[in-house]
Amino acid sequence: MAANILDLIGNTALVEIQCAQPKRGAVLAKAEFLNPGGSIKDRAALQIIKQAKERGEITDGCSVVEMTSGNMGAGLAVVCGVMGHPFIATMSSGNSPERATMLRGLGAQVVKVAQVNGSPGQVTGQDIAAAVDEAKHIAQTQGAFYVDQFNRVEGFDAHYSGIGAEIVADVPNIMGFAACVGTGATLCGAAMRLKEHNPDVVCVAVEPAGAEVLAGRPLVKPKHRIQGIGYGVIPPHWHAEMIDRYDAVTDEEALEMTARLGSQEGLYVGVSSGANVVAATRLAEELGGAVVTVLCDSGLKYSECDLAQ
Ligand SMILES: Cc1ncc(COP(=O)(O)O)c(C=O)c1O
Repeated sequence: MAANILDLIGNTALVEIQCAQPKRGAVLAKAEFLNPGGSIKDRAALQIIKQAKERGEITDGCSVVEMTSGNMGAGLAVVCGVMGHPFIATMSSGNSPERATMLRGLGAQVVKVAQVNGSPGQVTGQDIAAAVDEAKHIAQTQGAFYVDQFNRVEGFDAHYSGIGAEIVADVPNIMGFAACVGTGATLCGAAMRLKEHNPDVVCVAVEPAGAEVLAGRPLVKPKHRIQGIGYGVIPPHWHAEMIDRYDAVTDEEALEMTARLGSQEGLYVGVSSGANVVAATRLAEELGGAVVTVLCDSGLKYSECDLAQ
């Protein structure tokens, strides 16, 4: 029996994606949507709050604030709720209303921030920057602990010791790993652990086509439809040395695979999961062995138009 829901964060199931049908190799995916907050972000949220409490930066009853596109917010709402800290989420109004509904259900206060140049379902780097400014303002004026996920290494640590170690234990013969990039914590943290296990594991950064800045290309499509990733900036804790390849996935490819995962695999997941499976399939075909990827979040946080092809 778990003492509380926080004990159920991580150790997610690994599932083979049959519908990907690579011509060679196999595509295996970590079912991160099974975390209590519905996404991979629960892992980073728990690590950041735990360590901040240990350092004394969060004292009893202290509020916590963060900019979120939904997933980090849900993870923090779960963690803060259980640990007894009020949580305030600032969120671009371009994110689907379902996200705010879930956060409120988990006890968070949600502050919506008007979009700068994006549109509903298409949140740009500038929209994110506006929501970050609001979070900083709340931290300063209300004395709340500012999570600042993009500038923290704890997320990286959570994935190194969490998802990376779990994959090594479950798939010792892993040949490749593919993951999309928000903060880069998932990809770089797991990649470091996987390469310690076997330096030949090929690690691939999955980017939205037209927003391939990690691959060194200009940002020509800031308004792509793969929410939660590909903000057109290189994250502060990006480890290019961990990355062997870059794969650009189009909106159409990601949405088509997301729909297929739902209808053929019983996996109702978000669009970044579809993008990951597209890239993992290509990598499995190339390597002819086991490739692992990540089903980042549940589809429940998305509006119907977010998922429409
Ligand atoms: C839907 C979704 N997929 C993937 C990611 C990428 O995670 P990371 O920040 O670890 O790079 C995020 C990050 O917010 C996300 O919201």
